[in-house]
Amino acid sequence: MAILKVDNLYKSFGKTEVLRGVSFSMEEGEVLSIIGASGSGKTTLLRCINALETATSGKITIGQETFFDSSNPNLRTKASDRRWQLSCGLVFQSYNLFPQYTALENVMLAPKLLAKEREDFKENKKEILEEIYEHAVALLERVGLSDRLNNYPCELSGGQQQRVAIARALALSPKILFFDEPTSALDPLLTQEVLKVIRELAKSKTTMVIVTHEMKFARDVSDRIIYMEDGVIEADIPASELSENTNSKKLRAFLGNIEG
Ligand SMILES: Nc1ncnc2c1ncn2[C@@H]1O[C@H](COP(=O)(O)OP(=O)(O)O)[C@@H](O)[C@H]1O
Ligand SMILES: [Mg+2]
Repeated sequence: MAILKVDNLYKSFGKTEVLRGVSFSMEEGEVLSIIGASGSGKTTLLRCINALETATSGKITIGQETFFDSSNPNLRTKASDRRWQLSCGLVFQSYNLFPQYTALENVMLAPKLLAKEREDFKENKKEILEEIYEHAVALLERVGLSDRLNNYPCELSGGQQQRVAIARALALSPKILFFDEPTSALDPLLTQEVLKVIRELAKSKTTMVIVTHEMKFARDVSDRIIYMEDGVIEADIPASELSENTNSKKLRAFLGNIEG
């Protein structure tokens, strides 16, 4: 069964049509990369799927639940929007950590806020907070930052900050983890340490959608590649077919331009 299903998604900003009928679905454990020129609508697509932006029309289903359906506007409630947000984790291009909090505090923040809503919070406060702490430490260890728990973002390299951002996105155990050009602000060396973490997540079958310009990485780490151009999907292919011999003429032209 599909973990994510996007049906005929449209999104306009004023008169600008940015998404013009995007449909795709993915299975649990799958890794999907989205490539395409700047301005083709990749970020807008991620933001619509992540509930940060409301699509103009179409339908979005995650797991068993349809969170957005333009033909059924009554579907959305505060509670369903909340479940929607919690099903998705997003790692931005510019890490967006809270500068006033340490790495550990950045990772614990959302789980703590959520825990306070629990009915048994007062009763079991000590155990709940202890669990959140242990989980955050384990996540930071997973991204290779055991020795940086108490450092502030300004004391970390860009690659380390991005790895904290990945740990933070994992902290609420989202159904799908999304990355929007996670390495485009990093130099080649720091890029590799972030890509290594993403590769390891892929190995452990984390369901991921990755917008990236790193073609070799996309081919290595993904099961499938979606190529977007002008707000539509021009190619949806197995990652192994991402080469200059691919069937799609438009994708061939894109690959020719970036590699040539
Ligand atoms: N909030 C917005 N208001 C108006 N136009 C926007 C907004 N966000 C994105 N756009 C426009 O949508 C188009 C696609 O942008 P984007 O989704 O960021 O593409 P990509 O991530 O592929 O570079 C661009 O032309 C951009 O200017
Ligand atoms: Mg973008």
